[in-house]
Amino acid sequence: MSKYKSVRGMRDLLFNETQQLNFIIEKARETAKNYNYGEVITPLIESNELLSAKSGDEIRNRMFTFKDLGNRNVSLRPEFTASIARLASSLLKRNQKPIRVFSVGSVYRYDEPQRGRYREFWQSNYELIGSKKPEADAELILLTNNFLKNTGLKNYFFKIGHIGILRGILNQENTDEKIQAKVLQLMDKKEYNEAFKLVSKTSISVFKNLIGIEENNIFDRIEKIKNQLYEYKEAKNAVQNLYEILKFLTCCDCPIRTIDPVFSRGLEYYTGVIFEVQIPKFDISLGGGGRYDRLIELFGGTSNPAVGVAHGLDRIKLALQFQDIKNIDQNFKKVLVVPVTKDQEIKALELSEKLRNKGIFVEFEVMGRRIGKALQYASKKNMNYVIIVGESELKTGMVVLKDLANHEQKSVKIEDLIKKIKG
Ligand code: HAM
Repeated sequence: MSKYKSVRGMRDLLFNETQQLNFIIEKARETAKNYNYGEVITPLIESNELLSAKSGDEIRNRMFTFKDLGNRNVSLRPEFTASIARLASSLLKRNQKPIRVFSVGSVYRYDEPQRGRYREFWQSNYELIGSKKPEADAELILLTNNFLKNTGLKNYFFKIGHIGILRGILNQENTDEKIQAKVLQLMDKKEYNEAFKLVSKTSISVFKNLIGIEENNIFDRIEKIKNQLYEYKEAKNAVQNLYEILKFLTCCDCPIRTIDPVFSRGLEYYTGVIFEVQIPKFDISLGGGGRYDRLIELFGGTSNPAVGVAHGLDRIKLALQFQDIKNIDQNFKKVLVVPVTKDQEIKALELSEKLRNKGIFVEFEVMGRRIGKALQYASKKNMNYVIIVGESELKTGMVVLKDLANHEQKSVKIEDLIKKIKG
């Protein structure tokens, strides 16, 4: 036993798991290309001040923060949005609008470790900067739909809301900014009764009416929400904005389960539409995002509306496992090449390189095992073929190809090997 183990909340992803995660990363990257989001790499470490601004207490209090050797107060990034907003107010400031930016990588939050909740996890992140239009909001939801569809995930659905509804009510009821932040946090955790303790009686009654709306049809539901808000202009405008966004979504076969009028998300920077995506019986969000029109300005840029989304790639991996969806390309064939004696080693190695160059996955026998042991090893590793390079076959330009699945063995001409292996 090693005397060391990984730090609590940190995980080692072994071969299969890494392969699954990489498959999802590839799909995320394909989606970025399909929607023309340019990929950027930002630092894992940023100033704590940048990451704390408008991230909300949920994230602010869970960052891995330390002083670097130059006494700077820095943190491991808990998300990408702050870094991209920093770029939008600096290096990308003069870029043609809209700016579409994609990033993928690990992020860090000191969350309580449990299934689907880690301290180091992976996100794919997309930000669309420079547009206020509902079609920009819709794009991030459609892009998420496209990405998840391409991973093979089934039955996922979106929950959509608008932070302007709760904010509009609280603003009109003159609720202090700090209290608003607290109320939104409690609403995010569905601790409604705790939230009600902090707001006016009229706010409580509007909130309760909104929570009580039972209509399932999306557009009828929007009407009912509007009716509850007839005295709240800002909140009503938010619902109208939501309606405009939904019009774009319904045209494009996007699975929307609910419009939640009291929806709130942990991050403080949101100013408009907010959304999350989930699958049934798996009660954690696989991705979430929304509009944040004031963050970039806060970082020193000019007024710059933006909307974005981040997907939790570890959770998507779990969700695919939960739905028993095999996403790994099962079609590639794995081959072990074994020289019969030392004299065939160089020829066998040369053959391995040739096969690799033709896209076959080849292991060369490097443990000095002879045939019997090498065959045992290859079947334990679930390889498809063993190629045995022997002296007599080589003389006639042949090798022995052993198919491990059906235990067949034939002499095959070297130039026919690729065709035989690829089938
Ligand atoms: P977020 O909702 O904090 O949003 O995180 C996005 C996704 O990351 C979540 O939906 C979830 O799938 C995953 N996630 C969060 N915490 C954990 C954890 N402890 N372990 C595993 N997965 C986790 C953001 O990060 C925003 N930056 C999204 C955004 C981009 N908004 C605008 N632009």
